[in-house]
Amino acid sequence: MSTGTTLFSPELAARFDKLVTTYPVRRSALVPMLLYAQDEIGCLSDEVIAEIAHRIQLTELEVRNVISYYSLLHMKPHGKFHVQVCTNISCMLRGGNELFAHCKERLGIGHKETTPDGVFSLEEVECIGACCWAPAVQVNYDFHDNLTPEAMDQVLEQYAAKAKEEAK
Ligand code: FES
Repeated sequence: MSTGTTLFSPELAARFDKLVTTYPVRRSALVPMLLYAQDEIGCLSDEVIAEIAHRIQLTELEVRNVISYYSLLHMKPHGKFHVQVCTNISCMLRGGNELFAHCKERLGIGHKETTPDGVFSLEEVECIGACCWAPAVQVNYDFHDNLTPEAMDQVLEQYAAKAKEEAK
């Protein structure tokens, strides 16, 4: 059921209309809908939560409970590049904590914070499934592995340059 709202692009609204009829149980479409909405809007704001709850016929509280369960879903906007540093066991043994400390110092922000220019946000995360190549970092949907502080600096510089380029 479409709500007729303008919160989402017509393409995403149409995608949602189709998604809610794809699964035998309507609520099965919830996580994909949240991910698509987050990609388009930037975060799962109160308005986004209200509309998705309406579309999928759940309460807003039920939607919020699902969001709080998945670390990849967030209600506040991230930076253009969201840097997730794994400090779980494999990464920890290969310098994950030092890498996270290095990122904090280099970016001048802490866990779940965003740089004033909105280019980077930082988060310490649990295993991201790249243990064989520890220590690993995920930036948006891209993985970077076998990192040292020096290699991390290069990664951050590349993203900073990309942000500058795209801002022109
Ligand atoms: S422990 Fe860091 S990716 Fe698995």
